[in-house]
Amino acid sequence: MDYKIDNTPLEKLKTECLVLGVFEGRGLSLSAEKINIQTSGLILSLLNRGDMTGETGDTLAINYIPDSEIERILLVGLGKKEPLSRKNFRKVLASVIKTLKDFKIKTITTALTEINVTDSDFAWKTGQTIEIFADHCYQFQQCKSKKDPELTLETIQFADSEQNNTLLKLGIARGQAIAEGVKRAKQLADLPGNICTPTYLAEQAQELACSHEKLNCKILEETDMEKLGMGSLLSVSRGSQQPAKLIELNYQGGNKNDKPVVLIGKGLTFDAGGISLKPGAGMDEMKYDMCGGASVLGALQAAAMLNLSLNIIGLVPSSENMPDGDANKPGDIVTSMSGKTIEILNTDAEGRLILCDTLTYAEKYNPEVVIDLATLTGACIVALGRHPSGLLGNDDALCNDILSASQTACDSVWRLPIWEEYQEQLKSNFADMANIGGKDAGTITAACFLARFAENFCWAHLDIAGTAWRTGNNKGATGRPVPLLTQFLIDRANA
Ligand code: BES
Ligand code: MN
Ligand code: ZN
Repeated sequence: MDYKIDNTPLEKLKTECLVLGVFEGRGLSLSAEKINIQTSGLILSLLNRGDMTGETGDTLAINYIPDSEIERILLVGLGKKEPLSRKNFRKVLASVIKTLKDFKIKTITTALTEINVTDSDFAWKTGQTIEIFADHCYQFQQCKSKKDPELTLETIQFADSEQNNTLLKLGIARGQAIAEGVKRAKQLADLPGNICTPTYLAEQAQELACSHEKLNCKILEETDMEKLGMGSLLSVSRGSQQPAKLIELNYQGGNKNDKPVVLIGKGLTFDAGGISLKPGAGMDEMKYDMCGGASVLGALQAAAMLNLSLNIIGLVPSSENMPDGDANKPGDIVTSMSGKTIEILNTDAEGRLILCDTLTYAEKYNPEVVIDLATLTGACIVALGRHPSGLLGNDDALCNDILSASQTACDSVWRLPIWEEYQEQLKSNFADMANIGGKDAGTITAACFLARFAENFCWAHLDIAGTAWRTGNNKGATGRPVPLLTQFLIDRANA
């Protein structure tokens, strides 16, 4: 998709489809007002007829405009009055693209950046337009022999006055980078486990690194991990035919000695549960257990596209979790890279086992901050549902930065505590700790486990079990939290 600014005055605009906003009670936005005059009252007469109400997201397509270079107009409802909330502005954009993606047209021109949105500038409105349009235009067709017809849409134009061009350009750059990062994460995540193996993920990371000058990739093999003493990570992959990989992406956008932001993403390409086998229903969705890893790739791609002046390390421990004669057994005790020993009471709590060694490994970078993202616990869905990601961490400033980025990105998170008191639940009679903390507060005890390996740096953990993909009829990856991470990195680079 191409994104352009069109400074042509509306009266002279030429387009296949112009998107205009209207309010409830027949209120016209600035641009709708202008076009109404130019078309001798066409828009108002349709509204007077009661063909649309102006409710948020309500649409009306006018497919022919007499004596005009504008071939079509899509009216979209903006609700009661300005300013719109960010959520409602996003709702409006979603309903526009849902309607227009099936039109057989190549170009859309939107005049919606003029609408006032609470706490939002032109860059934000432009970026959101791109993110939402791209999100709805995503198709996963790689594994279908009979493909759906490709969308015809090629260009999105922003109709606005020249004085806003600088912000619009910034918004286009950011929106496009986030949209591309989200798309990469979704594509990797929607692939089935038999295609997207740890080896495949590693190859994809290497390919990504090849396409950006400041991005480099190194893959640690099982033999390398053995030398490092990653007994916890390797215990998970022992039950799988697929060799584990530890993907290391390095984005060097800052000064050589700037401490890096380290992003760690859980890359479980399929989680059957191991010997503590999961029930059959819905087990296919455990191909999404690598969404954290996919989001790390997506966020690094976005950072590279934006040429952020920041050093970033992406680490993706990748493995399968399968039942096998050589798999972890309940009661097994493994020694992590940190030297701490872990009693594996449930082999299905494998995410923390691969993440803990990666956290220890991250120390060698002397990180500014470390953020891990993982589809870690079903308990997170019980606690928060599928709207926000869970946020836990050992540093308030870092957690607040993440909360703030999440608000800008409209990629929500909700913080949960990791108080000392919860650590008791991880007590083991035979090792330094158990890998599960019983039935209470599963998301928190999982984070408490990770916290024991993150004592030497500022660290935050995002539990994305409820947000990384949609379940049900509309099953598919969301690409979250790439928008949040990219915004966090943008904020850091600008600080
Ligand atoms: N990948 C799962 C978590 C998960 C489950 C995410 C369902 C999304 C939907 C993780 O590896 C897991 O199995 N966790 C266990 C932990 C338990 C054994 C303490 C869980 O949540 O049941
Ligand atoms: Mn599991
Ligand atoms: Zn898992």
